[in-house]
Amino acid sequence: MNAEGRLAGRFVALGITGSIAAYKAVELLRLLRAEGADVAVLMTQSATRFVGTLTLEALSRHAVESDVLALQPDGRIGHVVIADAADAIVVAPATAHWLGMMANGIAGDVVTATCLASAAPVVVAPAMDGEMYEHPATRRNVARLHEDFGCAIVDPELGALASGQTGVGRLAALPLIVDAVVAAIGDRPIRAPGAARPALVEPRHEEDLAGRHVVVTAGGTAEPIDPVRFIGNRSTGKMGMAIAQAALDRGASVTIVAGLVSVAPPEGARIVRAETTETMRAAVLHELVAPDGGAGLDALIMAAAVADFRPRLTADTKLARGGPLVLELEATPDILAEVGRISRGSDVGGALGRALEPRPVLVGFAAETGSLARAPEKLRAKGVDLLLANDVSQADSGFGTDTNRVTVYSRDGDADPWPLLSKHEVADRLLDLVAGRLDERDAGRQTGGAPSAQETTR
Ligand code: C5P
Repeated sequence: MNAEGRLAGRFVALGITGSIAAYKAVELLRLLRAEGADVAVLMTQSATRFVGTLTLEALSRHAVESDVLALQPDGRIGHVVIADAADAIVVAPATAHWLGMMANGIAGDVVTATCLASAAPVVVAPAMDGEMYEHPATRRNVARLHEDFGCAIVDPELGALASGQTGVGRLAALPLIVDAVVAAIGDRPIRAPGAARPALVEPRHEEDLAGRHVVVTAGGTAEPIDPVRFIGNRSTGKMGMAIAQAALDRGASVTIVAGLVSVAPPEGARIVRAETTETMRAAVLHELVAPDGGAGLDALIMAAAVADFRPRLTADTKLARGGPLVLELEATPDILAEVGRISRGSDVGGALGRALEPRPVLVGFAAETGSLARAPEKLRAKGVDLLLANDVSQADSGFGTDTNRVTVYSRDGDADPWPLLSKHEVADRLLDLVAGRLDERDAGRQTGGAPSAQETTR
């Protein structure tokens, strides 16, 4: 999607009804997306006979809604979700039949039902035989949509029609319909970003992590004060679980080192429970080095919110209520920094004494509040390849949300601020980077093993 387009950040519902011009809606969908819109398609039953839902689904990346009673995979009512989230609804082509239904508020199909249920502006582009368009019934319905309901009408054009005749009834030129959608939205605020929109149908990935072992830490740690109480944090594990799921989808074998989590892990992952920083450290170090001394993992993604401080002493029995209580806290070991040192072979007193082979890709997360200014220094200090920083004080990118807005820092590039995305999209984009780095690493190892021509002649 084009972040610079006139519809960037907008969510547009494209209603297709049963005219031969329905095939043009495929191109209209492409043009809307080229303008930056996220588009979901609504179809009447007869429209599905003119153009395949598979094409529209693949291009829009949303399930096509063609049944008023259908539910989304997450149980929400599809057309109501679209009605509530759409910044505009564009019905193109609109048949005489549909105009009649809409003019009378008869919600027998998803396109009409969505228009009736929505406060979004509606753009209607009729297409039909010339005489049908001229019929007083059609004229009256079109006038009603425009005058009574405030729909913008994009008039059909004069031209050759499917009947073989020439007349006014051909669907308007697609750029004009796009212009009408842009004008209808104007400078209204975006109605519903992110999770309030219908779910994206994830494109099937090639298995670009097949044969890779990916270790993901998820959730928060709990540092005991006494047998009952602990110091914890607000992490739910959603981001880590989304990464684990995305890595499984790409064919990786996945180990989740799980602290305190409130979401279920994906099926197919190996789970290691580790609730304190110390047990998480032990679990991660155990995965890091294989019994033969080589790397035990290809990528470590530390999405867990690991405590930075823990009580210096843990009481054996439950502390009794009384006067004030002072807890003395000590710093926890920085797991990621230690992993960075071990994989570079620079861990003081480390058992290996050499760099890990092959070198794993290391990814950290940095939950910040207010400013991401500390992120570049964290990237360096922890010795990671990538650091994803987010401002958890923002309502849409904190703990427990389904969305995240991260800025990606890498050792070899500029900071890259990603837009607001679902955590699944963040996971997928992150794994694009990880898979690319692993491929580069392996290509380098294949060519780097043999001496270069220059070296041999010296
Ligand atoms: O320094 P800060 O806690 O912001 O760093 C966050 C990153 O470091 C996260 O990836 C987190 O999982 C990891 N971390 C760690 N060990 C700690 C604290 C944080 O590995 N003790």
